[in-house]
Amino acid sequence: MLKNDNNNYKFSIDKFYKNYLKGPRIFNNRDALEPSYIPHELPHRDVQIKDIAEKTACALFGNAPPSFLCYGQTGTGKTATIRYISQKLAQQNTEIKPWWIYINCNVVSTPYRILAHIYNTISREEKIPPTGLPKDIIFKKLLGLLDSKVRNSICFLVLDEIDILIEKKGGNEILYDLTRLNENLDQCKTSLIGISNKLKFRKTLDPRILSSLGEEHIVFPSYDAGELRDILNKRAKIAFREIVLKEDVIPLCAALAAKEHGDARKALQLLRKAGELAERAQSKSVNSKYVERAHDDLEKDHIMEYIKGMPLQAQLVLTAVYLISKYSPDHIIISGDIYEVHSEIKGFIPGIRQLTKRRISDYISELTLAGIISAEVKSMGHYGRTKIIKLDIEIDIIEKVLSEIDKIQAILNHKPTLLQTDKVKLKNNIFKKLI
Ligand SMILES: Nc1ncnc2c1ncn2[C@@H]1O[C@H](COP(=O)(O)OP(=O)(O)OP(=O)(O)O)[C@@H](O)[C@H]1O
Ligand SMILES: [Mg+2]
Repeated sequence: MLKNDNNNYKFSIDKFYKNYLKGPRIFNNRDALEPSYIPHELPHRDVQIKDIAEKTACALFGNAPPSFLCYGQTGTGKTATIRYISQKLAQQNTEIKPWWIYINCNVVSTPYRILAHIYNTISREEKIPPTGLPKDIIFKKLLGLLDSKVRNSICFLVLDEIDILIEKKGGNEILYDLTRLNENLDQCKTSLIGISNKLKFRKTLDPRILSSLGEEHIVFPSYDAGELRDILNKRAKIAFREIVLKEDVIPLCAALAAKEHGDARKALQLLRKAGELAERAQSKSVNSKYVERAHDDLEKDHIMEYIKGMPLQAQLVLTAVYLISKYSPDHIIISGDIYEVHSEIKGFIPGIRQLTKRRISDYISELTLAGIISAEVKSMGHYGRTKIIKLDIEIDIIEKVLSEIDKIQAILNHKPTLLQTDKVKLKNNIFKKLI
C-alpha cells in the first residue's frame, strides 16, 4: 500500500486489480467445486447408481418404476446421484422422456406449497396461488394436468429432505396421497423418490406410507478418506490449473472430512476455500497451510451458524457467559453466576421467562456439547464440587455473532451488577486461590 500526504496508508484499487491480473492463477474452473455442479462421474457410488438405474429403467418404456427411499449421512452423494441419474435418463434416445420434479422440502416447506409447486412446474405457469385452495381441489386439478401434459410418460417426484415434510402438519397425509397418485391416473404414471439424511426416519413413517414407499430403499454409506481422495482428485483436475496443488493438499482435505463422517461436501468446501485463500494471498500454489486455515475458517462459520440457530434462551445463557468474561476476564464463572446474570438481562427483553437453575444447567450442557463453552467440575473446598465455565471460542467471534442477533445486540454493553457485588468478589477471590 502507498502512503498519502498525511502519511496514512492508502489502498489503490487500480493498482490492486493490475497486480491481481498479472499475479499467479490458481483456478481453471472454480465452478467445479461449487455445490450446484453436477459431476460427470461419481466415484464409489456404482452400487447405488446401478441399483437406481435398474429400478428406473422401465420409465423409458413408459412403465411405472417403484417408489423408493435413499438414505445416508449428509454429504454422501444422495442428491448428486439422483440428479446424475435424471440427466442420464434424459439423454437416452427414446420416444418417451420422463419428467422430473425436484422438491427440496426444506425450501418448499408446506404440504400445500409442495402440491402447488408440482402443479406450477408441470404447467410452467403460476396457476395455483401460494395459499387458499382446498387440498382436494388441487389434487383433482393435478391429476387432470398430469394426464394431459405428461400423457403416457412417467413423472418422477423427488422429495429431498423428506423427513422435514413428515414433521409438518398434514405431511403424512400428503405423502400418502402422493404415493397413491397412480391409482387415480388414466394415462401418466408417477414414481416417488424420497431422500433423507435422518437414518431413523423410516421408523417414524406411517405404516401405510412405508408399505408403498419404504419397502425399497437404497443406502448411501459414508466415504472413507481414500474414497474422498478419489472424489477430490477428479474434481481438482477440472477446477485447478495444473501443478498448483501441493501433494499433501488433497490427502489432508480428505482426512479432515473423513473425521466428520466422510462428508464429501465438507471435503470439497475445504479444497475450494484453501484454493481461494491461496489466490487471495497471490500464492503460486496451494499447500497444507491453506487447508488448515480453511478448516479453521469453516469451523468458525459453522459455530456462528449454530449459535444463530439456537433458541433465544440458549443465546441468552451464552450472552451471560460472554458479559461476565468481557467485563471481568479473570472471574471464575460458576453456574450460579450465569443464573444471576441471565435473570438480570432477561428483563431487557420483553416476553422472556425466568429460567429455573435446572434449565440453565441444561443449556450449559448443550453449549458444552456444541464446543462453545467448557464446563469443568472442580472441588472448591467447603463450597463443594462446582462447575467452572469458560468460553471455548475466541470472545471476538462470540461478540460478532451475538451482535448479529437483533434482540441481544442492545444488551452487549451491559455490565452485570453481579460483578460489582462485594460478596461475589470475595467468593471469587477464594475460588482463584483454590484453583
Ligand atoms: N461420489 C461422488 N463423486 C463426486 N462428487 C460427489 C460424490 N458424492 C458427493 N459428491 C459431491 O459432494 C457434495 C455433496 O453431495 P450431495 O449434495 O449429493 O450430498 P447429500 O448426500 O445429498 O447430502 P445432504 O444429506 O446433506 O443433502 C456435492 O457437491 C456432490 O457433487
Ligand atoms: Mg442432499
